[in-house]
Amino acid sequence: MKIGEFARKFDARIDTIRYYIDNGMILPEKLHSQYRFDDKCVEDMTLIKELKQMRFKITEIKKILSFKRLTNLIDKTNLEYYAQFFNEKKEDLIEEKKEIEKAIKAVDEKITEIETVKKTLKTKIGIPLQFFNLLYCPRCQKNLKLYNAIVDGNSIYNGELHCDCGYLALIQDGIIIDHNIGESYKKVMEVNKYSPEAYLEQTDTLFISFTQKSFQWVIKRLDLESLNNQIIMEIGTGNGMVMTNVIKEIAKSNYFIATDNSLEQLKRTKSLMEKNGIGQNSIFIASNYNEIPLKWGSVDIVLDIFGTTNQVFHQEEFLFEHIKPYLKQAGTLFGTYIYLKPSSSQFKPNFRKYRKYFMLEAIKTSLNDFEIEDASTFGFTTSRGDLINVLGEGSKIHQWACQAKKL
Ligand SMILES: C[S@@+](CC[C@H](N)C(=O)[O-])C[C@H]1O[C@@H](n2cnc3c(N)ncnc32)[C@H](O)[C@@H]1O
Repeated sequence: MKIGEFARKFDARIDTIRYYIDNGMILPEKLHSQYRFDDKCVEDMTLIKELKQMRFKITEIKKILSFKRLTNLIDKTNLEYYAQFFNEKKEDLIEEKKEIEKAIKAVDEKITEIETVKKTLKTKIGIPLQFFNLLYCPRCQKNLKLYNAIVDGNSIYNGELHCDCGYLALIQDGIIIDHNIGESYKKVMEVNKYSPEAYLEQTDTLFISFTQKSFQWVIKRLDLESLNNQIIMEIGTGNGMVMTNVIKEIAKSNYFIATDNSLEQLKRTKSLMEKNGIGQNSIFIASNYNEIPLKWGSVDIVLDIFGTTNQVFHQEEFLFEHIKPYLKQAGTLFGTYIYLKPSSSQFKPNFRKYRKYFMLEAIKTSLNDFEIEDASTFGFTTSRGDLINVLGEGSKIHQWACQAKKL
């Protein structure tokens, strides 16, 4: 058999056969400068292939072939020596297998690590580029100009939003931050600064359950699953109890604008969403309610779940005047409010000036530019919750929730 046929027979390259010849592993005769491969060559090559499959190295194969040639493996001692090559190889392979299993485990761990990083990158929330044209100066209602932007994919993560009037907001890690936030931030009622865990520590669970009644009332009327292409804005997102409930259920075609003047709470809520891969369609704005950098008439639904109730202690005014311009014509306000009846409640002396913001009639009157489409009250609680420093013991706390259309 000539070299071509021999190579084909063993599915090998001619170069490889030449290498084996040069290394004395197969010993063909040379006739008129052409190799001739006989049965002995076939036998050697068959063994070489078997040994290669068993992962023997070339030096080891050479040794095995030589031993076989020297002894012809005719007696027991020869065979014992011969078997030794294979026993040692088996031990090597078992060791190698352990090493490979270790390597596979390490590779698997790396893959999982990369997947986790990929997931966090994928779920990082920024300001969607298509939302940019709704970012307006809250003072002069002109489109804001974006400078030094860092854009990744379809979202803005960092940058500066300027207006010619001098208004400035920063975009940091995907949150729009009013440049003056530092001041208003300090004024927020302390209890809201805390994490949900700390809030729970300081607040009677009865009060929390009570506030859930009006919140649930709103959620039912929002009919989350049927919402499409809506811009929803929450007033006072805080730790995101409302937001996470809403964002989980609504279609991606809706935008959820989370606002709060506590940057710390917004950051926490945002990273909670990112960690859980939700809220890609949300926009986080850290600003005061009266300085939200948004185009008027762009919001379909405002959620005011105790936002107004909370901020009267800082700004001593109802929020409706500030909220209304952002709503579209016939847009809806869903609000939940705490109210008190003078006959069954008592403000502590330092807080008496706030009483007028907790009168149901006053709340309704200040909604005069809205048509109340639906409303409900929810009994009362004497558990003072957040209001413990504000109200005397035994005061009855009531709630009112409404669905109101902008006129
Ligand atoms: C009662 S909490 C709202 C709770 C929230 N809806 C939730 O689901 O957890 C009121 C929030 O309004 C924020 N806040 C109070 N006054 C504000 C103001 N003037 N401007 C913006 N945010 C304000 C507080 O930081 C607080 O997080």
